[in-house]
Amino acid sequence: MSAIKIRDNIYAVGARDPEVRIFHGYATPFGATYNAYLIIDGDKHILVDNVKAAFTEEFFQNIEEICPVESLDILIQNHIEPDHSGSFPELLKHCPNLEIYCTAGAQKGLKAYYGWEGACHLVKAGETLNTGAYTFAFMPAPMVHWPDSMLTYLQEEKILFSNDAFGQHICSDALYDDELGEERLFERAIDYYGNIVLPFGVQVSKLLEAASAWEIELICPSHGVMLRKYIGEMVAAYLRWAKNETDPNKVVMVYDSMWGSTEEMTRKICAEFEAEGKQVHVHSLRDEHYSAVMGDIVDAHTICVGASTLNNTLMPTVAAFLAYMKGLKPKGRVGLPYGSYGWSGEATKEVCEVMEKLGWEVLPIRKQVYRG
Ligand code: FEO
Repeated sequence: MSAIKIRDNIYAVGARDPEVRIFHGYATPFGATYNAYLIIDGDKHILVDNVKAAFTEEFFQNIEEICPVESLDILIQNHIEPDHSGSFPELLKHCPNLEIYCTAGAQKGLKAYYGWEGACHLVKAGETLNTGAYTFAFMPAPMVHWPDSMLTYLQEEKILFSNDAFGQHICSDALYDDELGEERLFERAIDYYGNIVLPFGVQVSKLLEAASAWEIELICPSHGVMLRKYIGEMVAAYLRWAKNETDPNKVVMVYDSMWGSTEEMTRKICAEFEAEGKQVHVHSLRDEHYSAVMGDIVDAHTICVGASTLNNTLMPTVAAFLAYMKGLKPKGRVGLPYGSYGWSGEATKEVCEVMEKLGWEVLPIRKQVYRG
């Protein structure tokens, strides 16, 4: 990838990772990007975020198309997860006097990850940095996606550098939302929300309320395409997802089957829901990664999990899915555990326990005896 001009003096200089297929447990069949942005304000050169360490060379090459890496003055580090801070040690080698703007949590993280002992400019909500022609306003966004996260708004250009918020894991030729297409954009965005942001609805709601004061013409996230056409639609979708609004007609069925009985139950239960006019989304964990289900779970009212009993417990695919989903904490759902009985039927009980721990309304377990 080369540096991409977004506006006069503003460039995307991040890296593409088309080959990545697992991103900390989240399947990324379409790859990912680690976006970073360079702003030239007269003789001030400002960088917003950086990239995963393995992509530092590509990142530096992109910067060099615009200005020498050594000429960078300011780093705005919106978030220190290594996909956005991995180049930090190399940046410091080239720019030992780099001024860093971040939250107190990010400063702690930079120290923990990289042993950095310097002092950052610690920012609070509403604080601004004027670099000459440009004014950067900072908005801490704790837990969107980590405690250290923040967003940065470039006032004169009405650009929001949103870091993980509004991201999508996709590496394509499209740079902007309208180039990707509305359907594909929202399919990737809800998948990302379900796998990354889902536990933090309260924090997302607060953030959207605080950011509503900003007039935004362009959102530059840290993953995926930039948003210029569907900003209103994306903010509205985030508001719905953050409020945990679910579709009463949407049912998700997730299962794995040992000898076909649980699969047969899936077909029968699915037919019953469809006869009631429900939209049923079926996921076989034999064929799909557990994280591929999460996008559907974001707005589903009813979630059915089917598992055969294997060696007195769950099939490992279903166990992995439940462990993953438990961490992402979808709330207020109706759950239906089901599965074939095996010798002793523990699997459905274990599914039921997870649903109860999540605080869901759990429908009576449906079991089918082992048929030989
Ligand atoms: Fe894209 Fe929370 O890192």
